[in-house]
Amino acid sequence: MLKIQDFNKLIVANWKLNGSFSFTKEYMDQIRFKTIKNQKNCLIICPPVPYISEFKSSNLLTGGQDCSRYINGAYTGEISTKMLKDMGCQICIVGHSERREFFNDSNEIIHEKLNNCIEDKIIPIFCIGENLNQRKEGRAKQVIKDQLMASLPKDYSDENIILAYEPLWAIGSGLIPKIDEISEIHSYIKEEVLNNQNIKILYGGSVKAENYKKIIDLKEVDGLLIGGASIQIAEFKKILEF
Ligand code: 13P
Repeated sequence: MLKIQDFNKLIVANWKLNGSFSFTKEYMDQIRFKTIKNQKNCLIICPPVPYISEFKSSNLLTGGQDCSRYINGAYTGEISTKMLKDMGCQICIVGHSERREFFNDSNEIIHEKLNNCIEDKIIPIFCIGENLNQRKEGRAKQVIKDQLMASLPKDYSDENIILAYEPLWAIGSGLIPKIDEISEIHSYIKEEVLNNQNIKILYGGSVKAENYKKIIDLKEVDGLLIGGASIQIAEFKKILEF
């Protein structure tokens, strides 16, 4: 299992429903782990499932974007955590807001998926975050706490799970919270919700070359979960220069 506590900062690329075999090849040619100067940092690529095995020939780590709530059986179209492990994945994004919105991933389903990841020694990146209305109404912290409490597995620890704070209104919108607000939410989760456990929390939502540095330099931020900018090779290489 990936020893996440060995790393200082983690960068996770979420390709979402994008890519092709030729793009994957170009990506592997251009994005190299040595691009990250400090070996204490970790880079993980989450392409769509058909491209994951292609990365075996590279030295890039891979992860899934989702997994099944089921272990095996008659569930057409599903991919289990065991299968992700078989393909060489180290991590799996779970509970992304796009899964919650378009595929009805409830807190209960997310809980089951998190359990499957932990059981199969895949580190889940458990996504949480408020929408714009909840933020305007001053309920961001409560929403995040509720999402955590409803889905966190019983036997989670700072070695077997990563969280990702992704405010819904920041995803793909070009908007990001103020730097102080990111810091405040991460501190809130670490100190008040999780009682100072050493759980790593990534930030995600409109991270780009022009804004990533201020975010990743925050001591409360353990890394970045990047969508759009992670599939623009030139842009992503700039982010990997930190
Ligand atoms: P963008 O970086 O495109 O805003 O997406 C963030 C995200 O959803 C990563 O999981």
